[in-house]
Amino acid sequence: MEKGQEIYEGKAKKLYSTTNPELIIVCYKDDATAFNGLKKGTILGKGIINNKMSNLLMQHLEKIGIPTQFVRELNDRETLVKKVRIIALEVIVRNIAAGSFAKHYGVEEGIVFEHPTIEFSYKNDALGDPLLNEEHALALKLVSKEELALIKKYSFKINDVLKAFWKECAVTLVDFKLEFGKLTDGTIILADEISPDTSRLWDSKTGEKLDKDRFRFDLGRVEEAYAEIFKRLEAHT
Ligand code: TMP
Repeated sequence: MEKGQEIYEGKAKKLYSTTNPELIIVCYKDDATAFNGLKKGTILGKGIINNKMSNLLMQHLEKIGIPTQFVRELNDRETLVKKVRIIALEVIVRNIAAGSFAKHYGVEEGIVFEHPTIEFSYKNDALGDPLLNEEHALALKLVSKEELALIKKYSFKINDVLKAFWKECAVTLVDFKLEFGKLTDGTIILADEISPDTSRLWDSKTGEKLDKDRFRFDLGRVEEAYAEIFKRLEAHT
């Protein structure tokens, strides 16, 4: 297996082909964006942390029966993953009100939900990833009914597992975004990344934000927060 051409550059990652048509290499950058690319910056060392964190969490999820894209970590920033066709549906699971939920519904950050919520957005940067409901996703043929049911089942299961996992690291899992992809045989697997870029993670005791909100809202100590969350994860695995 050899690294080939760059096939795609996203906001936080680059993708490379390999000599195996079913596998690609993902390379995590330190680049950070927010508000659909409006805010741009660098978080030094983020690529390394997100690569390693996402890989550890995906391996944990594989163990409890969630199929993922992860194959093998190649180095600090690069991982071999299964090639998928990304489903253009971002799945957001929330345990606590924060971010766009707090803003849309005019509630304070920090309200703990009795049951987790799930919402979907259409993965389309040009349109600003608009929210959509299940019927919209079906109408746009982003997924079938059966696929949507499976994606929801996986997403809630992932929430249960990650919530318990982070709790043991003295971290509260507030919310997170997932993306799924399809293999050539149609199998749906968890794709993309699970990291402080795509999750809200608060210190369980102090409530301190240990995620990308520090960058989004200029809260300072951004690199320190990424390093702290990774230290806790590593200590636990
Ligand atoms: P939101 O409250 O801004 O809708 O974000 C919900 C979660 O999704 C939060 O953990 C951050 C993550 N997220 C992404 O991973 N990518 C995005 O483009 C956005 C807007 C949010």
